[in-house]
Amino acid sequence: MRPEVIVVGAGAIGSSVAYYLAKAGVRVMLFDRGEAGHEATRASAGMLIPLSESTGPGPFTDLAIESARLFQALNDELLERTGIDIGYRRTPLLRVALDEMEEHELRERRGWQDRSGIPVAWLDASSALDLEPGLNPQLRAALYYANDHQVNALDLTRALVRATVDLGATLRERTPVEGLILEGDRVTGIETGGETVHAAEVVIATGAWSAAWGASLRTSLPVRPVRGQMVAVQTSGTPIRNVVFSNAGYMVSKPEGLTYVGATEEEAGFDSRPTAGGVAWLLGVIPRLVPGLSAAKFAGAWAGLRPGTPDRLPLLGRLPGWQGVTLATGHFRNGVLLAPATGQLISDLVRLQRSRLPLQAFDPARFTIRAA
Ligand code: GLY
Repeated sequence: MRPEVIVVGAGAIGSSVAYYLAKAGVRVMLFDRGEAGHEATRASAGMLIPLSESTGPGPFTDLAIESARLFQALNDELLERTGIDIGYRRTPLLRVALDEMEEHELRERRGWQDRSGIPVAWLDASSALDLEPGLNPQLRAALYYANDHQVNALDLTRALVRATVDLGATLRERTPVEGLILEGDRVTGIETGGETVHAAEVVIATGAWSAAWGASLRTSLPVRPVRGQMVAVQTSGTPIRNVVFSNAGYMVSKPEGLTYVGATEEEAGFDSRPTAGGVAWLLGVIPRLVPGLSAAKFAGAWAGLRPGTPDRLPLLGRLPGWQGVTLATGHFRNGVLLAPATGQLISDLVRLQRSRLPLQAFDPARFTIRAA
């Protein structure tokens, strides 16, 4: 059956876009060159901590808060539709200050967040240690976000894909999309190695690999890979109850007894292998944040490629000068967090030509320079 919308890329973003479209009754075909969720999504720690990455009030903060809010309903409906537990668990964020400069930054953060009505508590060192006894006792202070959560990013994506297929969509894994079909200023479909598929709309959700579409669209798409390495240590139980986050790095305990330590931010092209230097740096985060875990068993290292953009904001919306193509990419450090809101907003845009949140700040037109 001919799809109405083709989604290229089945990471957290593409699978969420496909899900919200399919849920609204749209015939969707979802392509991935590998397996769903097996690139940046699989590398993610799955933290849903909307206030950790925002630097002030504005569209990014609004989008992040809205997306975090949508997770509760999404979790419930995915569980009901698929039986898959996406690992949605309340896991408060402790944003800790280890030195004077970081303490100053936290005070500023608390100031604008208080003024914006965001629930955040200032903790002195002893209150932070009461909440998380394993913290480095030399910390100076912490901000506490009681209502943050985490998920298992790969299970989230699996559940989104399963629900999308159950709603009648077609999934093509291990099927690289090799080209777009163009007619004048309209994208009318895609080509894979053996197949041509037409649709009214193509949504590009190929994360760090998105810039490659710029050549055929004669438009620069400034998305670049930014490697994030992580390590994990193994303990019995859940050694930390909160996400512990600082300028030095972050740590989060997962239900299966692993504690993840992240993450580097490196310009290394499309090389997604962990390195000796990256792993050494990450292991150094442990004694700075939760010293007792230095004795835990080393359990592994991995890396993923975040889709970075020049202003660290995603590209959401229509590509100027073209019809039939929409971008949902460039989510940088926040793909998993922003997946529900992106899915909902892109589904609205494609179906109704409007969105429920202002998208100007994320408009691809802010960067695109089209060749004649
Ligand atoms: N969201 C955390 C990271 O990208 O490392």
